[in-house]
Amino acid sequence: MIKSIILAAGKGTRMKSETPKVLHTIFDKTLVGYVIDAVNNTGLVDENFIIVGHQAERVEDYINKTYNNTKCVLQSPQLGTGHAVSMVLPYLNNFDGEVIILCGDTPLITEDTLKEFISSHHSKNSDLTVMSAMFEDPTNYGRIIRNDDDTLNSIVEEKDATPAQKAVKEVNAGIYCLNWGKIMPAFGQLKSNNAQGEYYLTDIIKWANEQGLKVDAYTLKNNDEIFGINSKTHLAEATKILNQRVLQKHLDNGVTIISPESTWISPETEIEADTVIYPSCYITGKNKIGKNCKIGPFAHLRGDVILENNVKVGNFVEVKKTTIKSNTNACHLSYLGDSEIGSGVNIGAGTITANYNPLTKVKSKTIIGNEVKIGSNSVLVAPVTIEEGANVAALSVITKNIPSWALAITRAPLKIVENWVKRVK
Ligand code: UD1
Ligand code: CA
Repeated sequence: MIKSIILAAGKGTRMKSETPKVLHTIFDKTLVGYVIDAVNNTGLVDENFIIVGHQAERVEDYINKTYNNTKCVLQSPQLGTGHAVSMVLPYLNNFDGEVIILCGDTPLITEDTLKEFISSHHSKNSDLTVMSAMFEDPTNYGRIIRNDDDTLNSIVEEKDATPAQKAVKEVNAGIYCLNWGKIMPAFGQLKSNNAQGEYYLTDIIKWANEQGLKVDAYTLKNNDEIFGINSKTHLAEATKILNQRVLQKHLDNGVTIISPESTWISPETEIEADTVIYPSCYITGKNKIGKNCKIGPFAHLRGDVILENNVKVGNFVEVKKTTIKSNTNACHLSYLGDSEIGSGVNIGAGTITANYNPLTKVKSKTIIGNEVKIGSNSVLVAPVTIEEGANVAALSVITKNIPSWALAITRAPLKIVENWVKRVK
């Protein structure tokens, strides 16, 4: 199996944030999480090493909680990308397989591209493959310098490039595949005698050529995939690109999206054909939406939401960690959290599952059986179960379990005072 090294020690100054750059999120998943998932989803990699530096503890904390095949390795001080990779030498001393190297701040890279990249490395029998991309404006990227016969010569950083080299539009995408056993010795020999005084990872290309090893480039087809995040503007742009990718997939699969301009759907949301997404919905995290559902306008699905077929989640309805079975409607103004809701249920306008006790910080579950009808403006105080077929009258506060087919009503009695208005006038 292949090992990956993900570079994430840089500071990310331009994010102007107390959060480390790679822990910023798109649809509630971290930037580095997207990279790790793309790598893991290739099915070709069994272990990842993340190079951490700036706010290392926070990144390490997150990684240890989230991934069990991923190890953080500290780089301090940060002396360049080549120096960063050399931090894993103690862990891969006896490893003789392949290593792919990526950056932690390029969340748009896809597993398909990584698979193609690795298979190009294999089919060309290369010792070192670098991913390149053709950019109309190559500013700030390392330039791919080729020999007269088109073979790869070296990579030259913008700050070290001659005017002729600066004119080259083929750039280094920052993703590499290397036969570790053969390339590893390079890391002991990198020099920092360049414009930035750094140990450049890119110098391994020249080194490998000097050793007579086989070096190749794989050209990226969709430049968006190496879009790197350096600022909040970049973060917003990447979110938009990812969203468009997701919407296109759903449109192709037969989902109706009335207003793609105002719809946000996370990559980990599955939706079946003939479901309609009305304008201005925000759907984040992992969700599964069945056939013929109607979502929105203005609905908010916050993750771990499972909707079976023919479910309506209407305007100003927020749903989180909740399963809703088929033919159930929650059409207006509700919060449904930590709930299991049966089929054929009607959730009246303004229904709230009170799932959170802010004093104990405990979240509890609401369970609603099939065919239950919840009247408008009711509060279901969890933990609570409303069994099959029960009715909850409008404006009730439910603090006890309600048995099947019962009526639950906590409403204050209605008092009518005849001619009261005329008297007080
Ligand atoms: C690097 C490449 C450049 C390429 C570009 C693609 C080098 C020398 N140059 O340039 O050819 O076109 O990426 O995006 O590699 N990092 C560390 N430790 C360090 C320095 C950097 O972990 O000491 C990490 C950063 O957090 C970042 C990644 O490495 O994730 C790339 O570093 P960055 O400074 O952005 O590289 P560039 O100068 O853009
Ligand atoms: Ca740099």
